[in-house]
Amino acid sequence: MLHQPNLTVNAAGHLALGGVDTVALAEKYGTPLYVLDEDMIRSRMGLYKTAMTACLPAGSRPLYASKAMCCKALCRAAMEEGMGLDTVSAGELYTALAAGFPPSGICCHGNAKTDEELRYAIQSRVGCIVADGEQELARIDRLCGQMGLRQSVLLRVTPGIDPHTFAAVNTGVVDVKFGVPVPTGQALAVTGAALKMPHIDLEGFHCHIGSQIFDAGPFRLEVDVMLSFLDSVRRAYGYTAGVLNLGGGFAVPYEPGESAPDCGGMIRQVGEHLAALCRQYDYPAPAVMMEPGRGIVAAAGITLYTVQNVKTVPGGSTYAAVDGGMGDNPRYALYRARHSAVLASRAGEPEDCAVTIAGRCCESGDLIGENVPLHMPQAGDILAVLVTGAYTYSMASNYNRVPRPPVVALRGGQDRLIVRRETLQDVAALDL
Ligand code: LLP
Repeated sequence: MLHQPNLTVNAAGHLALGGVDTVALAEKYGTPLYVLDEDMIRSRMGLYKTAMTACLPAGSRPLYASKAMCCKALCRAAMEEGMGLDTVSAGELYTALAAGFPPSGICCHGNAKTDEELRYAIQSRVGCIVADGEQELARIDRLCGQMGLRQSVLLRVTPGIDPHTFAAVNTGVVDVKFGVPVPTGQALAVTGAALKMPHIDLEGFHCHIGSQIFDAGPFRLEVDVMLSFLDSVRRAYGYTAGVLNLGGGFAVPYEPGESAPDCGGMIRQVGEHLAALCRQYDYPAPAVMMEPGRGIVAAAGITLYTVQNVKTVPGGSTYAAVDGGMGDNPRYALYRARHSAVLASRAGEPEDCAVTIAGRCCESGDLIGENVPLHMPQAGDILAVLVTGAYTYSMASNYNRVPRPPVVALRGGQDRLIVRRETLQDVAALDL
């Protein structure tokens, strides 16, 4: 069932994304194919920008979490829509810089950055590095000293909040690989150490509590913990933070029945709550950064496959084997994450069966989904898996030496290739 407003069925009975016939796209570019509705991506970027500018303290800004989907075209879109960028590796930083993204708008993350990555970020004059702990702060300080440069940093802390999303993306609890815990007192101690380091400027703090958050409640709790923490830091060291980065995590509906969260309303509630706490603590309102990734790109994307074979096991499942799979979308194999799907070539037909969509890899766990409601597929059908704009291309692999699919962006009804298809030569290009 189509549950995204940008998906329609056209007069030919084909699935259309942003008004563009997806079967025609499959014919033009081949399958598997990632398709992104760039108009939707830009309007989502605008929504976060407008809401954060209107509802949060001066200087507040959304940063696009490029781990969700990183390529030069999306970095350019983020730049043109006035967003900052959250990068998480030298590879993402390189992509952003190569796209012409201003380094001052880039915030570099990672819980295990190498010296080489840190040097690259510092040398590139990135706006901010999020340090994961005391050892990394000391390394940034030492590298800056060697390079004769200063660097703005945020310290990543874990507020000890469980937003009750799925475990793989639950990152704000205390016993987790990211950041320094607030509840144990370690974050306060590390802040004291950071403030003594001569080559870094501690601008404030970063925290991220998880993904797929549907309402403002967990973010309000995060603000509670962080304002109380900022107040204890001020009492201990007389230091006032100018920046509070609350991370990403805005949910998107993946299946019919899940409703889209009101992100603008969530940001307004966060802003009101923060303002109240700043009054309560008599704390100067910090600029707030938020890092939506999925909330910007997920619903804008679909993946098109060609059904290769269909079989029904008596008393068992109906399998539709497609020309892609965990190599281009590992989310079901990794998290049992559910995506809905539709036959793009016969999109007007009713859902009359539950199908296991099987990938092409030699691995029985290579599935895109089980018991997915669909019209009975036939070999040759174009199958569209929905809401695949986030964490699919960015997590893709060459398992079984399958080339990765290209990415096509749709803007104003026009399609353009933004990432080309890998060739067999690409797949073996690094072999010596
Ligand atoms: N900021 C930080 C520090 C993060 O760790 C993340 C996501 C984000 C922002 C963006 O979160 P979002 O707005 O996209 O929820 N591969 C998983 C998701 C992993 C999320 C990791 N961190 C998936 O396919 O669902």
